[in-house]
Amino acid sequence: MAHMVPYPSSAFVFPYRSPTVPLPFPYHSPTIPLPYTARFSLFGLRFAFFSYFCILILNLRDMTDQQYREEILRLKQEKNAVILGHYYQRHEIQALSDHVGDSLALAQRAQEATADIIVFCGVHFMAETAKILNPQRKVLLPDMEASCSLAESCQGPDFAAFKAQHPDHMVISYINCSADIKALSDLICTSGNAEKLVRSLPEDQKIIFAPDRNLGGYINRVTGRNMLLWDGVCTVHDAMQAEGILKIKATHPDAPVIAHPECNPALLAVADFIGSTKAMLNYIEKSDSRKIIVATETGILYEMRRLRPDIEFLTLRDDKSCACDDCTYMKLNTLEKLYLCLRDEQPEILMTPDMIEAAKRPIVRMLDMSKQLGIIK
Ligand code: 13P
Ligand code: SF4
Repeated sequence: MAHMVPYPSSAFVFPYRSPTVPLPFPYHSPTIPLPYTARFSLFGLRFAFFSYFCILILNLRDMTDQQYREEILRLKQEKNAVILGHYYQRHEIQALSDHVGDSLALAQRAQEATADIIVFCGVHFMAETAKILNPQRKVLLPDMEASCSLAESCQGPDFAAFKAQHPDHMVISYINCSADIKALSDLICTSGNAEKLVRSLPEDQKIIFAPDRNLGGYINRVTGRNMLLWDGVCTVHDAMQAEGILKIKATHPDAPVIAHPECNPALLAVADFIGSTKAMLNYIEKSDSRKIIVATETGILYEMRRLRPDIEFLTLRDDKSCACDDCTYMKLNTLEKLYLCLRDEQPEILMTPDMIEAAKRPIVRMLDMSKQLGIIK
């Protein structure tokens, strides 16, 4: 041991290693003290390896997306659950859903569901509608925070006061509202049936339309009505600007613009086709265009590309005009949350029987009228 030269000062020796034990690296000579720089880089190297293995072990404890998928399918079968997913959901959730649809189709699926559990991959008002239509089922929503700017813009007490000021008006509410607004309404509509439902009412019928002023304004323009509009918007569709769409159109003049009626009037004015989520899908399915400019929430691109892989879909996001076309509420649901909600059977939508009864009436009226008008089967 006499030939070993101890490190110059024990104050600089790292506690995990004795200064007299040689390091297992070739450049370490037992007779030459290890320079401080080398000792520091060795420490750094070991620390990096240690951290890497810790991260590796932690990651191994997390489930992979594939494992989530397998577990979701297993739990779904074991618990006799059905997964309903809106077209605006993350693509991986749409791929796992038993039924993917727009608000109208999913309301119908929820009403007809016979499974013990309905897992609604959408936003709160949609899961609430499922519970209202099928109260004996357990209805789960993977993330209770998945709200909607339209539903939030219209609160029960404010709307009740507004309605009281216009007692001679019938109230039509867009399905994107909470159960207490539905309970104050005479008829519910979705973007897929709003125009036809309004047209079917007597010309002289005075109407309050809530909560979407863009959809209501669009229906006023196409039907020549003068419905009284609640001042709410979908912040996703309302933020999309006509300027951005025109910029894309300048580069792709042959591409038609298709837009959801929740978009602002300036954007709708430059659209070649305006329609609900389902109507936009029908449009692209039959289209001869090679490119289509899409003004709605990005989740729909999953179904559009599935239906028409030959068409290039152009969006404001691709053009870097805005990143506003993603609904953060819709995207709150993830594979992990879907798995956890199936495993733990929560968060669950719970409502009083009175609220269910009051909110059900205008929704059932919508579904019945939609059948009579041939909008749904
Ligand atoms: P639809 O599914 O009726 O097209 O509505 C779009 C939407 O914004 C849902 O939140
Ligand atoms: Fe609500 Fe708009 Fe999101 Fe639909 S896209 S859930 S209307 S905020």
